Amino acid sequence: MLDGKKIVLGVCGSIAAYKSAILVRLLVKAGASVQLVMTKDATNFITPLTLATLSKKPLLTDYFAPETGEWNNHVELGLWADMLIIAPATANTIAKMANGLCDNLLTAVYLSAKCPVYVAPAMDLDMWKHRSTVNNLDKLKAYGNIFIPPGYGELASGLIGEGRMAEPEEIVTFISDDLKKKLPLANQKVLVTAGPTYEAIDPVRFLGNHSSGKMGFAIADAMAALGADVTLVSGPSNQKTKHSSIKRIDVISAAQMLEVCMEQFATARICVMSAAIADYTPVTVADQKIKKQADVFTIELKKTTDVLKTLGQNKQPGQILIGFALETNDEEKHAVEKLHKKNLDFIVLNSLNDAGAGFKTDTNKITIIDRDLHKTSYELKTKNEAARDICNKIIELIQA
Ligand code: CTP
Repeated sequence: MLDGKKIVLGVCGSIAAYKSAILVRLLVKAGASVQLVMTKDATNFITPLTLATLSKKPLLTDYFAPETGEWNNHVELGLWADMLIIAPATANTIAKMANGLCDNLLTAVYLSAKCPVYVAPAMDLDMWKHRSTVNNLDKLKAYGNIFIPPGYGELASGLIGEGRMAEPEEIVTFISDDLKKKLPLANQKVLVTAGPTYEAIDPVRFLGNHSSGKMGFAIADAMAALGADVTLVSGPSNQKTKHSSIKRIDVISAAQMLEVCMEQFATARICVMSAAIADYTPVTVADQKIKKQADVFTIELKKTTDVLKTLGQNKQPGQILIGFALETNDEEKHAVEKLHKKNLDFIVLNSLNDAGAGFKTDTNKITIIDRDLHKTSYELKTKNEAARDICNKIIELIQA
């Protein structure tokens, strides 16, 4: 959740400032770019050198940096940040924030910031309980700032109670969970299928197709990045998912694909069926390797169950079902027939006549056709971008 995020981390003068070193380390490790802004008192608790080294960026404490002769622009910093974390936030800084005071760089950045602000208080028990602090925190909450509750335990004064800054790991988890729950597909259970299926002929041979699984894996990743709880059912494919949250189930044949999809669809809100599932499978599978004999060899095939159509027949109100159509002729006509026949909410059409579309490529050119027969044609894009377009269409449906 924090990968690529630009974070201003404000550190105030509290003994808990020593925990900032671990917090910076965790944020940087999670892929965030961290700009530290310390109050002057904070520099008495932990050295700026420690934090600057961990964040790999020069650290700021004041508007004016005499060593470089530069003016540290609080407005620019506030605009640069995707989020501002103030940890530890002292009673003094919280009071300033609540009342619009900006007598140091950190509070000026706070007043200028348009991004979400997370506040992790740290103070002694009596300061924490003081009516004034309680009021100030209520004000911050009313301003939309997000408060990371302090823990209970022994405080620097020797008192035991609430007021210890949350542990750095708890702060990172808190922020990641908060970001995740605000994503447009948060808490949506999604089933995505990808890749080909292999239909066994004998122990060494199968009938398959050229699907690489790239489109389905890109959709699974895009869905997970938008907060969905993704189960990916994949036929044989050497693709890898990027998001560790994706649950992957590997199958081989159309029959296995059907079994797993039926199971998963029962609890899914959304299903995107991008797998290239075999339409036919051998009537019998030889136990032993078939030996070469006659000049012409015939394999008898029987139809597989259409997985998507079966899911369409079982679709419950509120479930969203999306299919793919890869066509070579009369593309739209065939796609619309499949949309209706399989009871889909929309179908993603790609034509093998479009250069750069179809199997194995890293690009795709898609057209989305919905139930009202509204048609949106997209340019040739990477499969990752096309996956985002499909997700955006799903979000539109959910939010409609
Ligand atoms: N599909 C499926 N089960 C099958 C065959 C296809 O679930 N046994 C799904 C595909 O995953 C895709 C959609 O149905 O989302 C359309 O697949 P496609 O191969 O284009 O169409 P078919 O219905 O198989 O028709 P045809 O092969 O005759 O074009």
